[in-house]
Amino acid sequence: MTVRELQDKIIKLKKETNTAILAHSYQAREIVEIADFTGDSYKLSVDATKTDADNILFCGVHFMAETAKMLSPEKRVFLANKDAGCPMAEQMDKALISQLKAQEPDRTVVAYINTTAALKTVCDVCVTSSSALRIVQALDNEKLLFIPDCNLGDWVKQQCPEKDIKLLHGGCPTHAAITPAEVKKAKAEHPDALFLVHPECVPSVVALADYVGSTSGIMNYAKESDHKEFIIGTETSISEHLQYDCPDKKFYPVTKNIVCRNMKLTTLPDVYNSLMGMDNGEAFEILMDAELIADARKCIDEMIRLGG
Ligand code: 13P
Ligand code: SF4
Repeated sequence: MTVRELQDKIIKLKKETNTAILAHSYQAREIVEIADFTGDSYKLSVDATKTDADNILFCGVHFMAETAKMLSPEKRVFLANKDAGCPMAEQMDKALISQLKAQEPDRTVVAYINTTAALKTVCDVCVTSSSALRIVQALDNEKLLFIPDCNLGDWVKQQCPEKDIKLLHGGCPTHAAITPAEVKKAKAEHPDALFLVHPECVPSVVALADYVGSTSGIMNYAKESDHKEFIIGTETSISEHLQYDCPDKKFYPVTKNIVCRNMKLTTLPDVYNSLMGMDNGEAFEILMDAELIADARKCIDEMIRLGG
């Protein structure tokens, strides 16, 4: 069967099962092509609430599907590949953060959305890479604990020197692997290119950027810019999607190694098998009890209240 034939079967099954497919922009091209909604973590969490489909099939990582379930508890939410987790989301647990809160109860705990629902229950407000700066600036409290990504936290901190932001040592192994030497090499090879980077990269890489933003932020910037060449400092799929969307421009991944193995676990056959298995228990459904949803949702609702 060709990719196109499998995609056609998926499109038919989506209609028959009344399912909306949400795909993060780090997914492969053939998955993005059959998705109803694509984008960054924040956009997808909003999109999950907009669809009136009965089922949501998430092509991304576990915390994203969990967020979709929390925002639309009446819908059945499935993750296309049950093994697709985000290592950053697992780096800190409730016990550690509860202990730190007990030591410094006057700090507001700001959690990157890349956290488990269980951890969110002890946090005060969520942020995404596209909303982190805005939300931190909107908080009344000056004293914050920002978890788990110290690189995103550092980027926010640079721009909010008036806030006392405590960071812990966590982050994304994929983005943190990009080095300043690799950026300088790419810039030497493509001297006319702008360098667009995700704030999950280390500060010495972010310091070399012409633009810093979420995956959607990077894509929008590149599409709207009059510039013709870009070095992309995030997962390689973004360069691939941009090259399809803007054939008259040139996109260079900063290195070929910036691949999130977790995001790439999901395949087109996983999507097909999930749609086939929704009613016989073979698809991986996100099941959360009402108490966990209510407790974990508070910090997501607070993010939305403060402006997304
Ligand atoms: P955004 O989609 O919010 O830019 O985050 C990138 C990421 O690493 C998602 O896990
Ligand atoms: Fe997690 Fe990093 Fe992969 Fe995003 S790119 S899912 S933060 S490991």
